[in-house]
This record gives sequence, C-alpha cells and structure tokens, in this order.
Amino acid sequence: MAAKPDARVPRHLAIVMDGNGRWAKQRLRPRTFGHHAGQKAVKEAVEFCLRRGIGSLTLFAFSSENWKRPATEVSALMELFLKALDKEVDELHGNGVRIRFVGDLDAFAPELRARMLGAMDRTAGNTSLNMNVAVNYGGRWDIANAARLAIEAIARGEFAATELDEARLQHYTCLADQPPLDLFIRTGGEHRVSNFLLWQLAYAELYFTDTLWPDVDQACLAEALDDYARRERRYGRTGEQVATG
Ligand code: FPP
Repeated sequence: MAAKPDARVPRHLAIVMDGNGRWAKQRLRPRTFGHHAGQKAVKEAVEFCLRRGIGSLTLFAFSSENWKRPATEVSALMELFLKALDKEVDELHGNGVRIRFVGDLDAFAPELRARMLGAMDRTAGNTSLNMNVAVNYGGRWDIANAARLAIEAIARGEFAATELDEARLQHYTCLADQPPLDLFIRTGGEHRVSNFLLWQLAYAELYFTDTLWPDVDQACLAEALDDYARRERRYGRTGEQVATG
C-alpha cells in the first residue's frame, strides 16, 4: 500500500516573491539588480520543494499590473526571464521539474512566448515537481477567463448553464489539475495577496515574512513549513470535529 502523504507538508505552495526592489535599494543599486538577485532565491525554492516532496510550486513572477512599472524595469524583467529560460531549463529538466507558465501569455513578445511554450513542451513529461510561473497573471483574470471558457462550453452544448457549479468553474481555472493550494507565502513584509490566485486561496494557509525575496533561503522556507505544520485546518468544521477525525 502506498504511504499516506504527510499532511504537515503542503502539496502545493505558492509564493509572492516580494522585496527585490528594496533589497537593491538597501545596496544603493538599481531595482533590476534585486530582480537578478531574486533568481537565486527561485533556485532555493525549487531545491527546497524537491527535497521536501512538495509536488507543486507556484511563483508570482509578473502580475498583470506590473506592466505599469517604468518601461526600463519591465524590459529588464523580460530580458531576465528570457535569459533565465535559456540558462535554467536544462537543469530544471534534469531534475524532473515540469515548467508551466500560467497567465495571459498573448501579451508577451513572440520570442519570449515561444521560449515559454518550448520550455513547457520540453518538460511536459516530468513529474518530480510542477513549477508554475505566473506571468501577466491576475486572480480576477483567472476567474473571468474560467467563466468565459465555461460559457463557451455551454454554448457548444457540453453542459447546461444550470449545471455550472464551483467544481465545473474550477475546471477552467489555471491550476485546475494541481493539488489544492495549501500554503501561500509572501515575502517582503506586506500583508496582502495582490490579486494572486484568488480562487485557489479559498482554504490556503497564509504566511508572511519580512525577509526580502533575494534573502530567502532554505532556512527561511523551513520556518514557513514549520509554522504550517502547526496550523489546524478546519475547512469550516469545529476544532473538536477535526480532533476526532
Ligand atoms: C516583486 O518585488 C518582484 C517582481 C515583480 C519580480 C519577480 C522576479 C524575480 C524574482 C526574478 C526571477 C524570476 C524567475 C521566475 C526567473 P518588487 O520589485 O515589487 O520589490 P519591492 O516591493 O521591494 O519594490
């Protein structure tokens, strides 16, 4: 019989990687220096998930609102994503990581989009870790997009409008095939979700740390997991009901 998964380890971890700009400012360097440094923390997070047996990791790399940043920062981020794809995909693939970009990819330059699709194709058969990189992503977009896809399915006669319930709508959201989101981490000291994974956050545990993203390492992530392991997840039930199974 297969071993029962350890409920104290999240099956799906999502991270808002915040604080790159402040990390750079503390060092009197441009914000883009912080984004570059943030890449190392991405590697730490991937390594951590592989070691701890966390099946899905979803990272907020670029929100639909991030286009409003200065043009120089946006283009530096695009450049960085391109370079990261060229540099890291081999190693991620070698480690059995399945890469997926979630969000509205149509807004990206054709070259970058082609690289994203190429990385997804190449790693599609991997099973050690699902690494979902949210780019041009917004939680409200995800829900609206799911609603549009469901309406299109209704129009094709696949099911009746009266049958559209939570489970059906969920099917059209970005991470529908992944385990439910267990743990949401935001680094950088802000206590908000910033339009990330709004649907998926319904029963996630939230963890906030002041650590700026480029400083995040294995110990910092281990602290978040220790905290998570102490949480009592009730899903609407009473503490007594949870205790008696
Ligand atoms: C938020 O910090 C960070 C971002 C908008 C970009 C995240 C990108 C990376 C970590 C680079 C590497 C990622 C991948 C997937 C290769 P901020 O700029 O808002 O920081 P601040 O709040 O201190 O200004």
